[in-house]
Amino acid sequence: MTTIHVLNGPNLNLLGTREPSIYGQDTLADIERSLQAKASAQNFGLVFRQSNHEGDLIGWIHEAGLSGSPVILNAGAFTHTSVALHDAIKAAAAVVIEVHLSNTHTREPFRHGSFVSPVARGVIMGFGAHSYTLAFDALVQTGLKSMSS
Ligand code: DQA
Repeated sequence: MTTIHVLNGPNLNLLGTREPSIYGQDTLADIERSLQAKASAQNFGLVFRQSNHEGDLIGWIHEAGLSGSPVILNAGAFTHTSVALHDAIKAAAAVVIEVHLSNTHTREPFRHGSFVSPVARGVIMGFGAHSYTLAFDALVQTGLKSMSS
């Protein structure tokens, strides 16, 4: 059974109360529930994690990539700052779909760049909690393989 890893970065534990006009009313637990329902219905395993610490995310990317499990990654603000996450994705040859609740390109200029995008298979942003379910569908429908395979 393929297990999809959904990894969430800093401040996403506060979804639901965090700037709801930007990020919506759904909590991270709501997002996990809807992905778990999709995964169960389609016979995929699901690992769903959140951390405010860059090193945790790096370790989890290594774990997923080295075990051949695809990743849906919302790296939060680390998206815009972390060469280490970029390197981790490459080092573990992880198949990653980058997601964001908000459309970062319509926001402050410091959110316009991403260290994840150049090493992601694709990017889905701007659809609130639906960004995650769209990423799940994209991953499943495109075969869960790396671009090079
Ligand atoms: C975010 C966008 C980032 O710029 C921000 O730092 C976040 C959330 C999003 O999902 O829209 O924490 O990744």
